[in-house]
Amino acid sequence: MNTSGGAIGIFDSGYGGLTIFNKIKQVLPLYNYVYMGDNARAPYGSRSFELVYRFTRQAVLRLFDEGCRLVILGCNTASAKALRTIQQRDLPMFDMTRRVLGVIRPTVEGIDAISRSKHVGVLGTAGTISSESYTIEISNLFPHIHVTGEACPMWVPLVENNEFDTPGGDYFVKKHIDSIMAKDRQIDTLILGCTHYPLLIRQIKRHLTSGVNLFSQEECVAMSLKDYLKRHPEIEKRLEKQSLSRFLTTESVDKFTEAASFFLGCNVAAEQITLE
Ligand code: DGL
Repeated sequence: MNTSGGAIGIFDSGYGGLTIFNKIKQVLPLYNYVYMGDNARAPYGSRSFELVYRFTRQAVLRLFDEGCRLVILGCNTASAKALRTIQQRDLPMFDMTRRVLGVIRPTVEGIDAISRSKHVGVLGTAGTISSESYTIEISNLFPHIHVTGEACPMWVPLVENNEFDTPGGDYFVKKHIDSIMAKDRQIDTLILGCTHYPLLIRQIKRHLTSGVNLFSQEECVAMSLKDYLKRHPEIEKRLEKQSLSRFLTTESVDKFTEAASFFLGCNVAAEQITLE
């Protein structure tokens, strides 16, 4: 195992975590990062608990091997289905000096301050919504908030295939916005509970009634990491600060480079890896 790297790892099933990576890098530009997309096995959204856990565990171990001291599961589905087991069962056996954090808890922390009606909607993959992770986290922190979930299984493929700004894409965006608002007319805040969804903001807004806030998670995940590093100097001091970033993908390098440039607005060189 590489113990000298001291990078922050950011993992996603595919490209969506690049929205999280982008914001974290803006807020904390000095650190070294390793982004990993399990693009060959994405999407995770409709996969079973066992598979998402197994794939995520493989990714975390590989990121540790690449020298990461701290890994962010920049994927809601992996955070919902694998984070708790990795934190509670795997890390104590593996290496207590390393940390794995998710995106759901930091996303919901600010929600009480934003919602006036205290009726909040969560849009996510089928896996995230059926895990009820958002509902559980919100009711732990803010038991007075009423949460309604909506699985949007077509949204990730629409983004990954660049088909979201088309009449077909618009149909699926409208379908799920109409559906969640019909479930609870008092919703005044919709959480984008999937890292791919920030790319759909313009399309979603077209179908929202006025007065409904759209809550995107990149900013709060990045600010929460900044705060975490302040509160945990024992982790922070092990992190190297040369502003370096590496990109690992289980798919072809060419595909990653093309798609990543679309998510990040610039070209990046990727390295192909195998996870097992
Ligand atoms: N981007 C992932 C998330 O935040 C989902 C993508 C997938 O289904 O693999 O949940």
